[in-house]
Amino acid sequence: MSQTCDVVVLLSGSGSNLQALIDSTRTGDSPARIAAVISNRADAYGLQRASDAGIDTRCLDHKAFEGREAFDAALIELIDAFNPKLVVLAGFMRILSAGFVRHYQGRLLNIHPSLLPKYKGLHTHQRALEAGDTEHGCSVHFVTEELDGGPLVVQAVIPVELQDSPQSLAQRVHSQEHLIYPMAVRWFAEGRLSLGEQGALLDGKLLAASGHLIRT
Ligand code: GRF
Repeated sequence: MSQTCDVVVLLSGSGSNLQALIDSTRTGDSPARIAAVISNRADAYGLQRASDAGIDTRCLDHKAFEGREAFDAALIELIDAFNPKLVVLAGFMRILSAGFVRHYQGRLLNIHPSLLPKYKGLHTHQRALEAGDTEHGCSVHFVTEELDGGPLVVQAVIPVELQDSPQSLAQRVHSQEHLIYPMAVRWFAEGRLSLGEQGALLDGKLLAASGHLIRT
């Protein structure tokens, strides 16, 4: 097999997506290895999940820095000490500076709980319900300078049920996140997924604007 793909995961919260990635990289044939988990919050449960799995953890408190640029510069230094091929945002609640995004261009992935380009930002489940959408879901995308706006890699689409609340919808979307994020990371680690000038490429072919679609 080709070389292992070292991954650094950034998060701020519970880290259920991290857990899905940990579980998927524990199988003997995984081409990816989580080299470190970094949080801007010391109380993020994701850090506990990482240390339980024997993964290196670091905390970098954004409040200790003068501004976004200074924090992002320190974050880059911390990440690059692990020399990752891929950086994965898994509920990292920080807006990233243009310099940070450019530094990791083509090797920075994010997951978002909506069918992008719909519902960038927060409260996506509630917004989908308020709009009367019949379908909702989640998206993995390459990160570019536009917030929640980079080329899509994969989307999971689920039906919205009549009796859904934001919580019930969030729960079903979360389960899909736990499937599609490890899938996208694996594609990247296998060298199958890359960012081209026109968008995301899988096996050398340009993906549709929606990315690879999975319907349940
Ligand atoms: C997920 O909903 C993800 O889509 C968003 O942040 C949340 C992180 O959840 N970017 P968790 O910490 O992985 O449980």
